[in-house]
Amino acid sequence: MQGREHTSWVSRFCALLAPLYDYTFLNLPGYRQAARDLITQLAVGADDVALDVGCGTGLLTLPLAEQARRTVGLDLSSAMLEKLAAKAARQGVTLELHQGSVLDLPCADGEFTLVTTAFMLLYLTPEEKQQALAEIYRVLTPDGRLGCLSSQGEIADIFLTREEWQTLLSDAGFTNVRIEDRYDVFRLVTAQANHQ
Ligand SMILES: C[S@@+](CC[C@H](N)C(=O)[O-])C[C@H]1O[C@@H](n2cnc3c(N)ncnc32)[C@H](O)[C@@H]1O
Repeated sequence: MQGREHTSWVSRFCALLAPLYDYTFLNLPGYRQAARDLITQLAVGADDVALDVGCGTGLLTLPLAEQARRTVGLDLSSAMLEKLAAKAARQGVTLELHQGSVLDLPCADGEFTLVTTAFMLLYLTPEEKQQALAEIYRVLTPDGRLGCLSSQGEIADIFLTREEWQTLLSDAGFTNVRIEDRYDVFRLVTAQANHQ
């Protein structure tokens, strides 16, 4: 389920998954709390312009939109985006949603002070992960922040190990990499852009 050639497969998979997503994945023990912990750690403020890539049904996007000045959610799957749009409308939350890929972000250089992503990088090959991080770096302001939620690569190899995160992020130009594990399986990763 990795790679650009699987883009349409991911979209079809997510079309099936979207109606049940919140009841299954978001109710996994620790999932929502780990997401809240990441948002807290990022200290999102009223000056932030935030992008959540692979936003799905809005695990990170909705809390970001409550705190940031402007919040954009981007996902490959129209079904996930429709679900998120309905949730945002019900909750009276304002956000912008775009269908697209992290590999080719439809965003200007330096547009965001903050980029987040949760459980999206696992869909990408190692080369695509590097491309995704380069795209994220490009759309961040010179000292913009990155926040990632994932699981621990040391216990399931579909996810990144601490060493792999360090290499991926420092190769992309990020500094201040911080990696914290929570609730047995979750991993919070934060870092900062360092544009010259
Ligand atoms: C497991 S879901 C996670 C959703 C949400 N971030 C969460 O944690 O609940 C993965 C999401 O990543 C999206 N995705 C996968 N590959 C993507 C890509 N190349 N660009 C943007 N979104 C992608 C999928 O469509 C799906 O909505």
